[in-house]
Amino acid sequence: MIRIKSAFALGIHAFPVDIEVDISNGLPQLIVVGLPDTSIKEARERVRTAIKNSGYQIPADKITINLAPADIKKEGAAFDFPIALGILACHGVISPEKLANYTFLGELALDGALRPLKGALVITTGLKNHSFILPSKNAAEAALAKGTVIFPVQDLKETVEFLNGNKPIEPISNSAYKNTPPQQGFLDFSEVKGQLAAKRAIEIAVSGNHQLLFIGPPGSGKTMLARRIPSILPPMDFEEALEITKIHSVSGSIPEGCDLIRERPFRSPHHTSSAIALAGGGTQPKPGEISLAHGGVLFLDEFPEFRRDALEILRGPLEDGCITISRAKNQVSYPANFLLVATMNPCMCGHLGDRNRTCRCSLGQIHKYRSKISGPILDRIDIQIEVPALSFQTLTSQETFAEDSASIRSRVCACRKIQKARYRQKPYDTNSQMSPRDIKSFATPDVQGRKLIEMAMKELRLSARAYYKILKIARTISDLAGCEQIQSDHIAEAIQYRSLDRQWWS
Ligand SMILES: Nc1ncnc2c1ncn2[C@@H]1O[C@H](COP(=O)(O)OP(=O)(O)OP(=O)(O)O)[C@@H](O)[C@H]1O
Ligand SMILES: [Mg+2]
Ligand SMILES: [Zn+2]
Repeated sequence: MIRIKSAFALGIHAFPVDIEVDISNGLPQLIVVGLPDTSIKEARERVRTAIKNSGYQIPADKITINLAPADIKKEGAAFDFPIALGILACHGVISPEKLANYTFLGELALDGALRPLKGALVITTGLKNHSFILPSKNAAEAALAKGTVIFPVQDLKETVEFLNGNKPIEPISNSAYKNTPPQQGFLDFSEVKGQLAAKRAIEIAVSGNHQLLFIGPPGSGKTMLARRIPSILPPMDFEEALEITKIHSVSGSIPEGCDLIRERPFRSPHHTSSAIALAGGGTQPKPGEISLAHGGVLFLDEFPEFRRDALEILRGPLEDGCITISRAKNQVSYPANFLLVATMNPCMCGHLGDRNRTCRCSLGQIHKYRSKISGPILDRIDIQIEVPALSFQTLTSQETFAEDSASIRSRVCACRKIQKARYRQKPYDTNSQMSPRDIKSFATPDVQGRKLIEMAMKELRLSARAYYKILKIARTISDLAGCEQIQSDHIAEAIQYRSLDRQWWS
């Protein structure tokens, strides 16, 4: 009996698998134990064909294969490669001792070539100090894991020759992480004229990771503003980049040749997206848009046009930064800590409150349009701000000075640094993630500020959640100003970002 090591990824966790291959006399057949998946019947043909097409002759025997642990959910051709090697070892083509040194990953094509697998990085970071033989297309990504040695191979034949000592392969280990290169190629904020209040809101939102909603008439520049956010996102450290890369590795969306994702994601799913597309799902639950946006931005343009059930998905993740997907057998949890940026018009026709045009919507229509965003969702959005239509003068003026993204980004980075230092003992590093108890110790305003927020609570009839949000936003505003203590003008500005609460939604 031959034993071979392999592994699979479920969510962002790795699980080792032991594959035992046994050959005995009897009717030629392939029996697989420990696999519920029906596709295993096809595996027999795939493995045989791949072995034959790689130039090896093997007699038709009775082959028994046992996968341990037994309750592995198998998908497609995930273990064909190690199974094929096991069969070859049983027939003396490879020496079994050689097999024992490595963990084998990859899918086998009919011609014996190795196809890249999903989640390679998840497996190599999860199983420490293993030596892996895996498809060369996964090598750069897989080698990011510390303490692993990767032998990249093209196909079954090359693997056999390597194991038999007939072909040397240069191993790769722990590719060096270079700091995020200077950002380039992004749309720049200097192209947006006016809209100073909206730009300020973006700067605060990105600095403290506060959820953001833009409300304004068509053509006021909401989409234009949001699309420029990537240009001011702060850089990532290696651990963050690794976590994001793992999530994208599971979804198989890392571009070929790219090892580590070095830029924060900016995801803008279309409003026709299903709840599953946003949340994630499938038999082996794959991450959805909200997890692919982890560490970066989830941009939901035309917010009310999204399906109600898709929007409701956001409630949990907006609160606790992760999502759990439950399927019949598997329960998978993915991180989903993103900056939500959403846009909407004030009403169906879009011109309510517009200086230049008149709104034709009835009160009922306006109410119906706004009620598409449920109270609980709205309550979770920290910053709500109106983006009014630009006056013709501002839009056409040549001399309007607009700050470029680099200047804004440097303030964002400085503000993130202050937060990181403050929260070094905490499991989070931005103001928006403070718990109510932490707010007490980190975000107490001065006496005047306290009076102001008390008054605002009464006058605007704000919820308890709004109260905490105001304090968190004020914390970011005072960090941007370089102030240790939150002052009343910081509170005053923070309240503005919640003032739509009453006028708009009641
Ligand atoms: N502040 C601005 N500075 C320069 N150009 C602008 C500005 N605002 C709008 N524009 C121009 O108007 C176009 C439309 O803007 P944008 O698509 O961002 O509007 P919007 O607010 O998203 O509208 P809608 O509600 O219809 O989606 C932009 O592509 C840009 O050319
Ligand atoms: Mg738009
Ligand atoms: Zn209208």
